[in-house]
Amino acid sequence: MKYVKDDIAEILVSEEEIDRITTRIAKEIDEDYKGEDKKLVLVCILKGSLVFMGDLMKKITVPVEIDCMKASSYGVGTESSGQINITLDLLRPDIKECDILIVEDIVDSGITLTHLTKYLLMKGAKSVKTCTFLDKPSRRRVEITPDYCGVEIPDEFVVGYGLDYAEMYRALPFVGVLKPEVYTK
Ligand code: PRP
Repeated sequence: MKYVKDDIAEILVSEEEIDRITTRIAKEIDEDYKGEDKKLVLVCILKGSLVFMGDLMKKITVPVEIDCMKASSYGVGTESSGQINITLDLLRPDIKECDILIVEDIVDSGITLTHLTKYLLMKGAKSVKTCTFLDKPSRRRVEITPDYCGVEIPDEFVVGYGLDYAEMYRALPFVGVLKPEVYTK
């Protein structure tokens, strides 16, 4: 029997750390969005952000709505071309009243988050902020600093807690480094 965990070389962010991080970010969000004039909409960027979004939204105590978008970059291997295609759009007639918080699992080159922020502002959102669980600043190709960040990580091939390799490993409850032999086969 093959276990998914057997392909993990090292746990980078444990379940206990994830719990602490999501609690901390939810408190920061509560503090920033507590005004009565706010209409906070968490936008989950599929598919990677599903797990983080689920944990985070349960810990936020201010009123919140949820929505989803999906974006893909035309890339070669692990390198993004810089062009983003929105494959699931946000269709809200009330967008001009919405304070949007984009929820990402990871910021790598920064191209996706930059594009989505500009796009939602262009569509008329009242405000757009960004939240990521993982940040790989060493991989940045465009300058962007997420408003809320879980943890900065080195440039390792990470999976779990929503992140995949060939659509596998998303369901792992922690973030781990994938063994090189898995993706160099
Ligand atoms: C990942 C991640 C971000 C994006 C970050 O999504 O969820 O959306 O890449 O990369 P960037 O900072 O270089 O733009 P991916 O396209 O792998 O889709 P997935 O979430 O469905 O796995």
